[in-house]
Formats: sequence, C-alpha cells, structure tokens
Amino acid sequence: MSAPTPVETLTEPEARAELQRLAKQMAAHDAAYYQEDAPLISDADYDSLRRRNEAIERRFPTLKRADSPSDKVGLAPNSAFGKVEHSVAMLSLGNAFTPDDVTEFDARIRRFLNLEPDVELAFTSEPKIDGLSASLRYENGVLVRGATRGDGRVGEDITANLKTLPDIPHRLPDGVPEVVEVRGEVYMSGANFAALNERQVAAKAKPFANPRNAAAGSLRQLDAKITAARPLSFFAYTWGQMSYLPADTQRGMMACFEAWGFQVNPAFIGVTHPDGLLAHWADIEAQRASLGYDIDGMVYKVDRLDYQARLGFVSRAPRWAIAHKFPAEQATTKLNNIEIQVGRTGALTPVAKLEPVTVGGVVVSNATLHNGDEIARKDIRIGDTVVVQRAGDVIPQVVKPVLDVRRADSEVFVFPSLCPECGSAAVRDVDEDGKADVVTRCTGGLTCPAQARERLKHFVSRAALDIDGLGQKQIDEFWQGDMVQAPQDIFTLQARFENNPPDKWLYANGPKDKLGKLKDSVRKLFRAIEARKTVDLDRLIFGLGIRHVGETTARGLARHFGSLEKMMQEVRQIGQGDTLLRADLEAVDGFGETLLESLVAFFQEDKNCESVQALLDAGVKPTPLEAVAQDTPIAGKTIVFTGTLVQMTRAEAKARAETMGAKVVGSISAKTDFLVAGAEAGSKLTKAQGLGVTILSEEDWVAIATL
Ligand code: IVH
Repeated sequence: MSAPTPVETLTEPEARAELQRLAKQMAAHDAAYYQEDAPLISDADYDSLRRRNEAIERRFPTLKRADSPSDKVGLAPNSAFGKVEHSVAMLSLGNAFTPDDVTEFDARIRRFLNLEPDVELAFTSEPKIDGLSASLRYENGVLVRGATRGDGRVGEDITANLKTLPDIPHRLPDGVPEVVEVRGEVYMSGANFAALNERQVAAKAKPFANPRNAAAGSLRQLDAKITAARPLSFFAYTWGQMSYLPADTQRGMMACFEAWGFQVNPAFIGVTHPDGLLAHWADIEAQRASLGYDIDGMVYKVDRLDYQARLGFVSRAPRWAIAHKFPAEQATTKLNNIEIQVGRTGALTPVAKLEPVTVGGVVVSNATLHNGDEIARKDIRIGDTVVVQRAGDVIPQVVKPVLDVRRADSEVFVFPSLCPECGSAAVRDVDEDGKADVVTRCTGGLTCPAQARERLKHFVSRAALDIDGLGQKQIDEFWQGDMVQAPQDIFTLQARFENNPPDKWLYANGPKDKLGKLKDSVRKLFRAIEARKTVDLDRLIFGLGIRHVGETTARGLARHFGSLEKMMQEVRQIGQGDTLLRADLEAVDGFGETLLESLVAFFQEDKNCESVQALLDAGVKPTPLEAVAQDTPIAGKTIVFTGTLVQMTRAEAKARAETMGAKVVGSISAKTDFLVAGAEAGSKLTKAQGLGVTILSEEDWVAIATL
C-alpha cells in the first residue's frame, strides 16, 4: 500500500472520490465493530481514517457527504481508558442446554460436597441479562471505581461513564463493609434502544444492531456526557472483593444489594429443588418477549455461600453456578460459497460465506461448517438456502440446507485433498483403532505459510503476548512485507527498521533518516513490543501454539517447569527416552499422554527450539508464576491423595489444596512432600512409607484445609 496523497495536494475530483471511499470503508468498519463485535482494524488506524476524512472536509467543505462519517459517533479507542486489575477475577459461566444438564449440575454439586439425596440443596434462579458486566468498587461507602470485565483479570476504568447510570448509587448507606465490590450487568431496555436508534437515524448516524451493542457503544464513549445521554440500566447479581460478607446466602446478599439501593432482577427467586429451576426457566422463557430487555437464558446459583466457597472454580467458571440457555435463534439465507481456512495447527476449516442475514440481532455473513464430515452428513452444497443459528456468544453455525428449494443442478461439495494455501497433501490422522480424525490437516508444517501466519496471530493474541497495536491486520501486513515471519522477528523489528524504516512508517514529507519522524503509531508499537519482553511465562507458553496447550495447561506447564529453558530441555530429554522425567510430567494432574506427545513433537522440531531460543536471545524475559497462595503450610508442596476421604470428596480436597498453593499429583515419587491417606489406603501408602514421605491422616488434612 502506498502512502496516501497529502490532503493539501488533492484535487477536487480526487477529494470527492476519496471522501466516498472513506465513507464506505468506515461504514464497513463500523459494522464490523458495532454489529459483529469483530473489528477489522485497530482503533488507532480507525482514528487516522477519521482524521483524514475530517481534514479533507475542512479543505473542501462543499464536498461533505450527507452520510459523512464525521457526523457519526466515533469509536473510543480502548487504550484511552486506564486499566484496572480486578482484585477478584470476573468469571464466566458454564452452560446448560437441556433439563438433563441441569439435573447433572445438581448431581455434580452433591457429589462434590458429598451431600446425601435427602439433604436440601437450595438454589437461586434469575434471568441471564444480555448486556455487559461491570464491577463497582466502593470504599467506605463511596464509589471509587467502575470497570469493565475485560479479560476477567484486567478490565478498563470506566468510572465516569458508569457514574452516569441512574441505577448505580454513588454512595452506600452507613454501616456497609469498608470495601464492597458489587458486580452486575449494564444493559439497555428495548424501549430505550428503539428510541436511541430513532435519534441515530434522525442524526444520520448508523443505527445499532441490537441493545447489547448499543449498550457497549454507549459505555465505550470517551466523553461521559454522551454516555449520560444514553439510557442504560444496571442489575446487580454478584460481588468481587468484600471486606466481609454481610449475609450467608446468595438471597441474603441480594437483599443487602437492594437495601443499598441497587436493582436486583424482579424475577430473582430461591428454589429448593432442580425441578423448581426448570419450572422457572419455562415460566421466564414464556415471558421473554414482554420483559422489556434481552435475556438469553437463566442463571442458577447455589444459595449457601459456605457451599459456594467449598465448590470454588474450575478454570474460568464457578462450580456453583450455571447458565441455562434458551434455544438459539435461527434464520434462513443463501450459502454463496464454502471457503477453506488453514489454522495454526494446519487444520482445514470450511467456512460458509453467507448472504448477510440478521440472526439474534446480529448480522451474520460467515458461519462455521466445522469439518468435511459435517458438510457431508448435512449434505450442504454451495448455492443452497440454509438455516443458520446463533446461540448466545457462540459462533454462528449452519444447521441444515432447506431441501425443498434446492436447485436441481447443485453439486455435492468435495472437500479438498490439498492445502489451498501451500498445496501440500491434506490428510486426516488415523487413531490406533483405525478411526479417521474429523479434522483434515495440511501436512506442510512450518513450510505452509498459512500455518506460520496463524501461529504468529496466535502468538500476539489477547491471551498470549497481547501486544497493544499488534493485531491480526498488522501481522498480515508485516507478513506480506516479509518483515515478520516468526515470533522472534517481532522483537527485532525496531532494531532492523529504526535506521531504515519503510515509507509508510514515516509521516508524509518527513526526512527518512530520522527516528523522530516515525509515525506516533509506529513508535507506540515499538514501545508496546519492548514492554512485552517481560511477559508471564504461562502466556508465552500458550503463545507458542503447541497443540493441546490451552491457557489452563499453559499455566500448569509454567508451574511445573518454572522456565522455558527447563521446559525445552526436559521435554527433549523425554523425547530421547528419559523415563524419569516423563513420569514426573505424567504425574501432574490433567497432563495426559496426548499432551505429552504433542509437547515432544513440538520440541523435537529443531526449528521450534531455535525459535524459542531466538525469543530469549532477543531479550524476552518470561516471569515465572507465583504459587496461588504463599502463606500456607502446603504452598509449593507436592501432595498425593489416596484412600477414601469421609469429610470431603477427592475433588474438593484437590481443589482446596491447589488454592492453597500446593501441586496435586497422582502418583508417589521421591519428590512428593505429603501423602494424605484416607481409609483403606493401599499401595501408595506403602510406597510413601518406603520413600519416607510425610503421611497425613484425613484429620491432619482437614485441619490444614480449614486453616
Ligand atoms: S453470575 C461468578 N448472573 O453472563 C458468577 N452473570 O456468561 C458470575 N450475566 O460474565 C456471573 N446475567 O456478564 C451472573 N444474572 C446473572 C447474569 C450474568 C448476565 C453475564 C455475566 C457473565 C456472563 C457469563
């Protein structure tokens, strides 16, 4: 892409054409951002388009278009808001789709807590609001900070905007705990949404696709006055940090919130049996259209807070709560094409290119077709009219073709046997039983450009390196310009280009030899990259894109190995047959054979090791994870549980030990610190005694666990 012509030298016809182009381009970006919640460019790039549009309009006022982007409400760059680290993570919820899932939720909790069937287990039930969650922090009764959820650990400071919501008290009554964090959902009612869109249309601004996007767009305003003019509401439903809990049930907490001046959903109820949950679900689903705001299911929570505390969390969702979704909304549209995308692990994913259609309030033009088997099973053909559905935040799916209107000349779709990006053979793995994997993979490995590029995108993604200003689009550009081909190249960009930057990195007309003339955005990017040289070890491990290594596994690996060098070295040794190291790794709970093989395969590839080494050489300094809790007698220790525990289930004991900073493993070795031996402990007890491992009785363990 060549540098744009400076505004000062544009002729009138050029300016007219450019304004038309910018209006179209920005409308597409607005749609991607507001309607699909999937921005195509960074906020900074969007801003520069807006500034260029305004500059041209200033020079040629008569050419300003009726649909000028400058009359629309701009996008507030996310980076303009300060970051807020949540003192208690903001979590998401697991999903239930069927009554059986709900019964299983109840049964799972009973198993975990070891509750007999005749012991009452009370729940609360309330609608799941389709809005945005926010956390409000009060210190000594005064609202000091309001933040978005962000990635759950770090959100954005939107205090000024949240203060404009009439449902959010600025002060709490006397006598509340010193620190109170109330969490809930910001949403826009249907009536307010309709009125806002009328105003948008009257002001020639683009209407919002649905109330959720309108609420998001309104909260993201840099100018709180604009937020104040947008009618947003807030329902409180949970809490973060509290200096003490003023109640011992979920219901009690909600009563406090109400007494403190918050809105609690009027449909919030308590029930004593899962049947009550199902009845409430059906009841609210029947009223869904007349509630006045969008909901996408019900949320059930265990009422007793002591149970909630014992149940704890699994990865990012509490064990004590679940979202029971309403059925997905569907629509029909035309399938224009099936494109094959190649992912970072070489998986070939078919993507449906659809005639845009509104489903559940969002315009959908792409949908996943999962894999070749799915296409064959559903007999989906290019040109078909198809049913598509969107279930909450799930990616749109093609459900089935509408056979009645299928064209007589339609052809069965043939899944490619060659990678469309590099031409290598595309094959399906076959397992030990001779069963073919559903996924077709490109065999090109590191030589397949699509795989290499997707790995890079994964490396810079939010849960991995998360470098400000370095997103998918920039990776594509750097890739095409041969500037970044592997992760380590990111960290040498500045050194390679400082003295000889590409033209488009410079201000137009600026002397090319001075760093001082680099565009602000480029300098900002260099700073962001430099800052990310210090990165959490687990993020870096996740970013490497090793198959079967998700965020949770990456954290486990970071904890187990403590450093990248050690991980690389030990996994290579395992690959060469070191059985002791293999046993060590296998002993970590949740680490199975598949993961092990995948790690070995990754580090057996010299190129991968070179890439990891090059990252370290380029100055990347991964910081090891801290133990979950530091000041407990078992922090940093390795524990094995064996035998039957009477006072808590194995799952609960394990979860508790991990929260207290211990590593729970499945088998005894010389590295085991404690063996907790319940009733009828067998060979593990004998082995531990032989190795001189400290043995704890269940009573000893309970004394530690309840510290
Ligand atoms: S409870 C730890 N209750 O749904 C418990 N969440 O899919 C956390 N949400 O991130 C949430 N209505 O933004 C809860 N009544 C409700 C909710 C609700 C909407 C949202 C919330 C959460 C998401 C999870």
